Amino acid sequence: MTAAIRPTVATPYARIVGVGTYRPERVVTNAEICEQIDSSDEWIRERSGIIERRFAAADESVVDLAVAAGGSAIAKSGIDPALIDMVMVATVTHPYQTPSAAAEVADRLGLVDTAATDLSAACAGFCYGLGLADGLVRAGNARYVLVVGVEKLTDWVDPTDRSSAFIFADGAGAVIVGPSDVPALGPVVWGSDGSQKDAITMTQSLVDYKVNGGESFPVLQMQGQQVFRWAVGEMSKACQRALDAAGVRAEDLDAFIPHQANMRITDAMIRALKLPEHVPVARDIAYTGNTSAASIPLAMERMLDSGEAPHGGTALLIGFGAGLVYAAQVVTLP
Ligand code: UT7
Repeated sequence: MTAAIRPTVATPYARIVGVGTYRPERVVTNAEICEQIDSSDEWIRERSGIIERRFAAADESVVDLAVAAGGSAIAKSGIDPALIDMVMVATVTHPYQTPSAAAEVADRLGLVDTAATDLSAACAGFCYGLGLADGLVRAGNARYVLVVGVEKLTDWVDPTDRSSAFIFADGAGAVIVGPSDVPALGPVVWGSDGSQKDAITMTQSLVDYKVNGGESFPVLQMQGQQVFRWAVGEMSKACQRALDAAGVRAEDLDAFIPHQANMRITDAMIRALKLPEHVPVARDIAYTGNTSAASIPLAMERMLDSGEAPHGGTALLIGFGAGLVYAAQVVTLP
């Protein structure tokens, strides 16, 4: 006879309990960026919507940023940290193949014997993490999950590359996901198109660097227009699918918080979605730049703190980026 396996104790719904962020101290203007590339403040503002961004200090690591944001998310959630059963760190800029940033983050936050893993889904990493955390909590495999989106992109961008140097920046955002009495995380709509893997990639692998050496340390390279076209064409459709899956109409949203890739991509998505003007839209990119996996929680907290979006309101999130990968879901704001 096959042995009977005792099932996990499931809980019907999950929610975001609290959000915390960390913005590095140093503000970097477009003028400073233009010291190294042939560009202008006007061009950068017009083509990307970025006015300034934050760069981490040389001695600040991905783990440092993640610990700051994670600690804040735990404090703002008001939960007992001992109830956190999983730490998930979405990042593509942790400079170690192993061990994971998550294991170190858990330890530095004083979490003992907590499951910990990193997640590689580029600018969609936070929304992937949210989707996975939703499943973990509802299945009973974790009581609470700390999901961190963190990047120190300045370590992996060539400051003299005019196609990417002005866009990427550093930061961290984190949420606690836990059980809920009512539905508060809609179904995640996600996917990938690996045939476009070269749209955002590294100039070479670390192994090739080891073999070839030279001055060609791998940095990010992006086919900006290709990503732009894909994002504008496909991501508004993914947004609509996430709204339909959650049974929520665009006009009933209290906030639209897309990945802060480029202000023009956000504007194009608003038009394609026919998002009514009364729905507030995250525009954190203006002062934060594109922080990849960190951009959505950073933008979320800014909207909540400024009163632009209400606590307990309904928001549509969508992350998209290298892979190409994407994930979107409707959530109740903490
Ligand atoms: O977060 C992960 C996902 N990433 C994204 O979603 C990024 C998506 N892509 C973008 O946001 C945009 O493609 C960029 C903001 C990166 C670039 O904007 P663009 O409007 O696509 O610029 P482009 O590459 O089409 O270049 C337009 C013009 C060109 O000049 P000509 O050929 O029209 O004379 C470029 O040489 O702008 C020129 N250009 C610049 N000029 C001043 C390109 N980069 C710069 C620059 N400063 N930094």
